Amino acid sequence: MHNQQVLLTGGTGGLGLGVTPELLARGAKLTLPYRQPAEVDRLKRILPAAEFTKIRFIRADLTDEATVAQLVNDMGRVDAAIHLVGGFSMGKTHEYAFDAWKADFDLNLHTTFLVCKHALATMLQTGYGRIVTVGSRGAVRPGAQLAAYCASKAAVVALTQSIAEETKDTNITANCVLPSVIDTPANREAMGAENARNWVKPESLAQTIAFLASEAAGDLRGAAIPVYGSI
Ligand SMILES: NC(=O)c1ccc[n+]([C@@H]2O[C@H](COP(=O)([O-])OP(=O)(O)OC[C@H]3O[C@@H](n4cnc5c(N)ncnc54)[C@H](OP(=O)(O)O)[C@@H]3O)[C@@H](O)[C@H]2O)c1
Repeated sequence: MHNQQVLLTGGTGGLGLGVTPELLARGAKLTLPYRQPAEVDRLKRILPAAEFTKIRFIRADLTDEATVAQLVNDMGRVDAAIHLVGGFSMGKTHEYAFDAWKADFDLNLHTTFLVCKHALATMLQTGYGRIVTVGSRGAVRPGAQLAAYCASKAAVVALTQSIAEETKDTNITANCVLPSVIDTPANREAMGAENARNWVKPESLAQTIAFLASEAAGDLRGAAIPVYGSI
């Protein structure tokens, strides 16, 4: 991915701690939107200082279309768009607030739509691109008290596969990964570090994501790849 321009969203999050270093190691140049400066500091603590120059950090809320359009426009060229932004929520359906439901769709689905839409528009101009989205095991195996999360992630898979159909005759691809539980600092805090042994390591998931974002993955289209680790 030497000198490829990559839009990496959620690159300062838990999964981002594995994906960002992997893309840098492969030679990519990153545009990395973030919300919390503390997360940028956390990421910088695990990166060699020399790598910082290959990242353009931009504070941005990806639920806003004008912001996403500007972000992509400023890149000029998008060789790969890797959208890690998303989030988990729980609650019984009959008690779930409609506002919370809509917020889950904003976070998981609508950010994915906006990033894919604007990245795809520039990719169609250059004739090349790789789109990688993040669903969840819950998208294909929905669980109790997870309706908003699972439904919005299932929609992410459908959106990705629709894009793959639309781009069939081009050198643009779209694929999705479906993680189970990722070994992130937040999950360790919520569920206990002693349970982390079987979870998917961000560094491991980063290998699959980086491959999907690479030129070599040109014949993979519309895949929803389970990355479950041992659970
Ligand atoms: N962790 C798991 O076990 C697991 C399992 C299955 C699937 N996944 C999926 O994997 C992806 C990464 O998960 P993760 O654990 O790394 O989550 P995370 O640590 O919460 O990271 C998500 C990142 O997205 C950013 N973000 C959220 N809303 C945003 C917005 N509106 N605009 C810009 N950035 C925004 C967050 O920034 P802020 O912190 O500033 O909000 C954060 O940096 C998500 O799509 C998640 O659903 C995770």
